[in-house]
Amino acid sequence: MPGAAPQKIIIDTDPGIDDAMAIHQAFADPRLEVIGLTTIFGNVTATRATRNALHLAEMAGHPAVIAGGAPVPLRRAPEPPADFVHGPEGFGSLPAPAPDRAADPRSAARYLCESCAAAPGEIIICAVGPLTNLAAALAYDPSIARHAGRVVVMGGSAARHGNVSDCAEANIWNDPDAADLVFAADWDVTMVGLDVTEKTRCSPQDFADLATESPGIGGFLQAATEFYFDFHEAKLGERICFMHDPSAILAITDPHLFDFETMPISVICDGSEIGRTVAGGEGRRDVSVAMQVDSPAARARFMQVVATADDSVATRRRNHHAHKPHGHEQQGHEQQGQKHHSGKTVTGG
Ligand code: BDR
Ligand code: CA
Repeated sequence: MPGAAPQKIIIDTDPGIDDAMAIHQAFADPRLEVIGLTTIFGNVTATRATRNALHLAEMAGHPAVIAGGAPVPLRRAPEPPADFVHGPEGFGSLPAPAPDRAADPRSAARYLCESCAAAPGEIIICAVGPLTNLAAALAYDPSIARHAGRVVVMGGSAARHGNVSDCAEANIWNDPDAADLVFAADWDVTMVGLDVTEKTRCSPQDFADLATESPGIGGFLQAATEFYFDFHEAKLGERICFMHDPSAILAITDPHLFDFETMPISVICDGSEIGRTVAGGEGRRDVSVAMQVDSPAARARFMQVVATADDSVATRRRNHHAHKPHGHEQQGHEQQGQKHHSGKTVTGG
C-alpha cells in the first residue's frame, strides 16, 4: 500500500505471547493505524488480557484505546486459561506487568460498534482470540456488520485439524457459539486458520536477532517467547514456534503471501467435534479462507517489520512531544513520557 493512508484496525485479543508478537508487529507497521485493542478471555483471564494490552501499548508509547471485553463465553462454561502455553500472566515467565494507563470505560462490544459507526467501511477488525466480543457487538448494534470494513479472524481450520482437540482450534473452541454467529453474519470475513498459521514458524535465533535489532520490543518478545518455545518443543520435539496471530496481521498487510478460497463457514457447537469449522452453511455469505502461505516470505516480513519496532516507538514519542500543547498534556501520554525519560525499562519485566 505505498503512499496510501494507513489502514485503520482494531485488534481483538487475548494477550498472550503470539498476540504480543502480532500487536507489536501491527504497532510497528507504518501501513497500519491501530486505533484500539479490545480484550477477551482465552490465553489469560479477561482482566489479565486488559492489563496485558495496556502494558503492550504503554511499552510501545502507543495511543491505542484499550477496551475490556467478555470474561466468559456466550453459552458454555469457560475453559481454564492456557497458562501452559502462554505462562501464568500471559507473557511466558515474565512477571505480571503493572501498567499506569487505564482502560476505556466502554465495553469492547460498545467500543467496536461506536468506532465502526464513526468511520463506516474504514476499520478492519482483526480478531485473534475467542470471538465472544464480536458476537456481543453484533447483538449490541447489528449495523456493525455494515459499518465494519472487514473482519479478519485468526482461528479455525479448513482441513479437519485442531490444536486443542483433533479437529478444533483454540480460539473457535473457546466459544464456538460466538464463532458461529460471526461466520453467519452478513459481513466480509477472512479466516486465517491453522492451515497457514502452523506453516509459518520462528526460531529462537529469530528472536535473538530481533533483540539485537530492536532491544526494547525485540528484547521483550525474546524473553516472553522462551516459554512459548518450551511449549512447542515439548509438543513437537523441535524448538520452533507457530506464528498464529502475526499471520492474521500479515493477511491484512501482505495478502499476496496467501492463497485464499471462498466458502461459507459454520462451526460445530455441540458433540465430539465441538469447535470444528466446516465448509458450508445454508444462506451464509462466503468467507475468504487462507489455504496456503509463502511461509519463508511471511516469516521474513514479520522479522523485517518487528526489527523496526524500537524506531517506531522513538518516532512516536518524538512526535508526541513535538505536538504536545504546553500545559495541556494528556495524563496517560505524559506518564509514558516520564516513564521513558526516567530510564525505567520498557521491556516488560
Ligand atoms: C490461537 O490460540 C491462542 O492460544 C493463540 O494466541 C492464537 O490466537 C491459536 O490457536
Ligand atoms: Ca490469541
